Amino acid sequence: MDMRIAVLPGDGIGVEVTDAAMRVLNAAAKKFHHAIHAEFADVGWAAIDKHGTALPTATVEICRRNQAILFGAVGLPDRDKTLPQKQRPERVALLELRKGLFANLRHVLLPPGLASRCPLKMELIKNGIDIMIIRELTGGLYYGQPQGISGSAPDRRAVDTLGYTEHEIRRILKVGFETARKRRRRLTSVDKANILATSQLWRELATAMGKEYPDIALEHIYVDNASMQLLRRPSEFDVIVTENTFGDILSDEASMLAGSIGLVPSASLGAPDSAGKSAVPFYEPIHGSAPDIAGQNKANPVATILTAAMMLNYTFGLTKEATAIEKATFSVLNAGQKLTGDLGGTATCSEVTDAVIAAL
Ligand code: NAD
Ligand code: IPM
Ligand code: MN
Repeated sequence: MDMRIAVLPGDGIGVEVTDAAMRVLNAAAKKFHHAIHAEFADVGWAAIDKHGTALPTATVEICRRNQAILFGAVGLPDRDKTLPQKQRPERVALLELRKGLFANLRHVLLPPGLASRCPLKMELIKNGIDIMIIRELTGGLYYGQPQGISGSAPDRRAVDTLGYTEHEIRRILKVGFETARKRRRRLTSVDKANILATSQLWRELATAMGKEYPDIALEHIYVDNASMQLLRRPSEFDVIVTENTFGDILSDEASMLAGSIGLVPSASLGAPDSAGKSAVPFYEPIHGSAPDIAGQNKANPVATILTAAMMLNYTFGLTKEATAIEKATFSVLNAGQKLTGDLGGTATCSEVTDAVIAAL
């Protein structure tokens, strides 16, 4: 198969981890006789420095003409703070590229060999941890209007708007139910229905949809309780579906159940619009640019390598190839010899990548 992908490394460790994932992808393509055509494009501060904007038109065009986007990370806090909110790369580039891609699948899986890296006691994790968090990605506080700061000090006022339409809620819930059906048939819908109107609508629609999926065990929990239950009974979670901000926060928390945020991949998928056109699927690790370790070959490349495997699965339907990458990656992690600093090891990003390629 011929695969055309846009690669946007971005800032900080985005550069190192996308390079690692591309090396693994190319090795897998060679082994299974496929061809990958990768077009690289600037994004984030890397693009501001060269072109004066975090999302140059050329980058948008490159994204549009490819079948999938592999993304590293954008944002450098020290430099971001010099910009008005509306010009920061996270908003100008990331939120723009995610438009239309409402379903963000974040897979938290604890490799058995890394059980000692999970901060929870062994008795709590002995049944394993394998959670698919489905985060709504294009609604809620991130995109709601009005948003901004008005007035003058000391009487300024800031506002963010949390809004969801029935359509937006139903389509992400459906992804939740369908995903649960392909896994262990348990769905946890996370909301704050005791106080938020958006959550009340969310819970009403989730309950109604649950009747169409009698084979799925549906539970509703409040987000504060969810953050606690994740630490109390992590093995019982299968699929979690939730709104944008809750999903952002819970997925960073859950990533530590797997041992490190450097292990969690994600896929952002959309659906065809009325004209039958879909946004280009977007693949990225859940972590950011990690400026504290950037440029030192210390980043854990696993999240982005597993992200590449999700891309093979979801966009190209290459399940055998995706499984081969996942197996190779988990064999390296389970062996415990080549681990980066976030997992208590001393291996470099390139050494871990070489080990995954050797295990393919
Ligand atoms: P972060 O995820 O970049 O880092 C949090 C901590 O986790 C740091 O200590 C970092 O060293 C560690 N870490 C993250 N990924 C790692 C990896 N692969 N290997 C080893 N350690 C890893 O979050 P932050 O510090 O809050 O944000 C830094 C910048 O990244 C900010 O500008 C933020 O807005 C941006 N950000 C971007 C994205 C994205 O582009 N998708 C996602 C999250 C944060
Ligand atoms: C993530 C990040 C982004 C988000 C930021 C950088 C806008 O935290 O991908 O999890 O909140 O979606
Ligand atoms: Mn986040």
